[in-house]
Amino acid sequence: MIIAIANQKGGVGKTTTAINLSAALASKGLKTLLIDLDPQANSSMSFVDVHEVQRSIYDTLTEPNVPLQDILLPVPRAGNLFLAPATIALAKIESKLLGELDSHFRLKDALTPIQDEFDYVVIDTPPTLGIITVNAMVAATHVLIPIQSSYFALEGTDDLLETIDKIKQRANPQLQLLGALITLYDKRTLLSKDIQDQIAQVFGDKVFKTLITKSVRLEESPAYRESIFTFAPNSSGATEYYQLSEEVLGRV
Ligand SMILES: Nc1ncnc2c1ncn2[C@@H]1O[C@H](COP(=O)(O)OP(=O)(O)OP(=O)(O)O)[C@@H](O)[C@H]1O
Ligand SMILES: [Mg+2]
Repeated sequence: MIIAIANQKGGVGKTTTAINLSAALASKGLKTLLIDLDPQANSSMSFVDVHEVQRSIYDTLTEPNVPLQDILLPVPRAGNLFLAPATIALAKIESKLLGELDSHFRLKDALTPIQDEFDYVVIDTPPTLGIITVNAMVAATHVLIPIQSSYFALEGTDDLLETIDKIKQRANPQLQLLGALITLYDKRTLLSKDIQDQIAQVFGDKVFKTLITKSVRLEESPAYRESIFTFAPNSSGATEYYQLSEEVLGRV
């Protein structure tokens, strides 16, 4: 199962979900690969010192002699979890692949030889619907859409769903919507409930029952290069992301 975490809106919890969902799956003994496909490299920074990254996903996507296998790093203190790191170099990919006929298939082709070695692959994507996110959706079996509990939560959702549909039509017919995840939820506000209802109207039973509430611990853990499960195992964030991983396993 290859899960692309996508939403072209910025700051909605894609990276927080990618790092903690992959850590939750790995903690269950499932061999998991987290692919950082965002030039901001936030997922990578959450687990390793990116200054020490020699070769990154950019090299794999642009050079035939750098297989994905060669860039993988084991994530410290998280057995079973491996990272394909990104660096800012990935920002050049759009211009680098311009005009290449296989530009949308680069990640899929890189992943195919090693995907059977992993039980789960989680892909973090940037806040755009450009070539990087398209590569993630072409390689994926499922898309998980984090949606921030805020007034403009659903703005842009049409474009996102349209992109998923287009990819299903040609490049990846097996792609499925895994679900919509409500993030940064604040149960104290009435507005949150309204927004939850709006999201349910669009996504129906695809909305995960697990809500990710606002939690300072979730914000802090990347600075210590830890997932929420080692940084604050008793926090609400740890409980919620564990519940999400159970729901994910139940949906496939
Ligand atoms: N449940 C939460 N509670 C508190 N803070 C959170 C929560 N989820 C995410 N954050 C914080 O909100 C900010 C944005 O989250 P995150 O980086 O996961 O979003 P993103 O969608 O990956 O952003 P981008 O589009 O820039 O890649 C971060 O500072 C993160 O620590
Ligand atoms: Mg991010």
